[in-house]
Amino acid sequence: MGDQRPTNILCIGAGYVGGPTMAVIAAKCPHLKVTVVDVNAERIAAWNSDRLPIYEPGLDEVVRQARGRNLFFSTDIATGIREADIIFVSVNTPTKTFGEGAGCAADLQYWERTARQILAHSTRDKIVVEKSTLPVRTAEAMERILNSNGQGLRFDVVSNPEFLAEGTAIRDLENPDRVLVGSRETPEGVRARRAIVDIYATWVPRERIIESNLWSSELSKLTANAFLAQRISSINSISALCERTEADIDEVAYAIGTDSRIGPRFLKASVGFGGSCFKKDILNLVYICRSYGLHEVADYWESVVRINEWQQSRFVRTILANLFNTVAGKRIALFGFAFKADTGDTRESPGIAVARQLLEERAHVVITDPQALDNARQELEGVTGSVTFEPDPYRAAEGAHAIAVITEWSLYKTLDYARIFRSMEKPAFVFDGRNILDREALFALGFNVFAIGKKPLKHF
Ligand code: UDX
Ligand code: UDX
Repeated sequence: MGDQRPTNILCIGAGYVGGPTMAVIAAKCPHLKVTVVDVNAERIAAWNSDRLPIYEPGLDEVVRQARGRNLFFSTDIATGIREADIIFVSVNTPTKTFGEGAGCAADLQYWERTARQILAHSTRDKIVVEKSTLPVRTAEAMERILNSNGQGLRFDVVSNPEFLAEGTAIRDLENPDRVLVGSRETPEGVRARRAIVDIYATWVPRERIIESNLWSSELSKLTANAFLAQRISSINSISALCERTEADIDEVAYAIGTDSRIGPRFLKASVGFGGSCFKKDILNLVYICRSYGLHEVADYWESVVRINEWQQSRFVRTILANLFNTVAGKRIALFGFAFKADTGDTRESPGIAVARQLLEERAHVVITDPQALDNARQELEGVTGSVTFEPDPYRAAEGAHAIAVITEWSLYKTLDYARIFRSMEKPAFVFDGRNILDREALFALGFNVFAIGKKPLKHF
């Protein structure tokens, strides 16, 4: 890559990870040409339009700054590969739904197909960067496929896992806690790793860029997500105990979070964690542990996922028990459906389990969300029962017996709850699955208020 032309970067996969990551790289590095390709033509068209395919605060500005200058979105994967010096692979690696390891292992079919595409269209040496979260030792398979070419081409595989969280993706990318780059420890591997480090070093302080071997890098991503999810499952398990003992989960979280060994973040009790990564990555870790015969380790991590499922159904059971053990025919408004605030993403949202279980109880479920209604409709396609989608939270609550807060959108903190109370069936209930509402104020208005890990405020 020592020649005159700018380094060409390609990213395969224009999703929640590939799109924002490449937009920030292009904005920060005008000397690089960044192209993002995807098999999904509709998605690429959206990236080239004024209505980007994903909602992410700050993304519009970054894309506007770089698009057409050194950031391009295209469906021409072959040309993209041919011209690239460095290829980031950011295609999805969902949980396998079939065959060996179904429900647990990562489905690597898109990943492998992409490797073969790279091989088919390459005419010179390249660095291939694993951006997608992958089972530890995937790079080995990747190297085997890529280096099976008969043309003497050289491919160096580097792992550079993504740590951005949706809703804060741009901030996380612009000011990351750390960037991790792993490679083989051969001279070629280290050279490839340095090329990736140099890109980030344009705007990330050197001491925040961690270099490691390939396997540590791959495994660190799975481990980071497993630890984060474990914190939520841990605090959620204690929330159940708080509800029985009149301890208050926020007081407990604050008290333990001030211990510098524990720290305050990711201790917010909730209806459960969601998102495309946590469950998938933990199950993937579980599968890998089992395949090495480490059954106790697998069971330990699997329980993080089980507690999360339990917490979601526990929320529904609380609703059911307090609505006099029947919700059949009752209108219940779900406030929020995204897996967290500031995103339209609904993948693995706790809202899905809550809606399904309420529908099984024959409730009439009304879903409102400022960004996620289209995705919500898709998630619930084909479910039987009465479900409607309503952009306006006031209308969603009209005639409802209960409101259940699923997503912590700040919008829900400032609604006119006196007006909402008047429009609802009585007794009126609020189940706050995110502990964002002013419980005392709602109680004073006449609501019966239930929150996670809190003493209920009831008028009866
Ligand atoms: C994905 C992975 O799920 C995650 O594990 C990893 O850390 C980053 O990449 P995300 O960007 O959220 O996360 O996924 P998604 O929004 O589904 O984007 C993947 C994109 O790849 C899709 O737009 C899809 O069309 C594209 N793709 C998939 C290809 O271009 N080619 C393929 O063969 C498969
Ligand atoms: C996560 C990781 O944070 C990120 O580093 C990784 O690259 C991808 O997976 P993301 O899934 O976008 O990011 O969201 P995150 O902010 O981690 O939240 C995940 C879920 O946990 C959400 O449903 C959120 O509402 C929930 N959560 C988070 C809690 O319930 N309590 C908390 O204290 C924090």
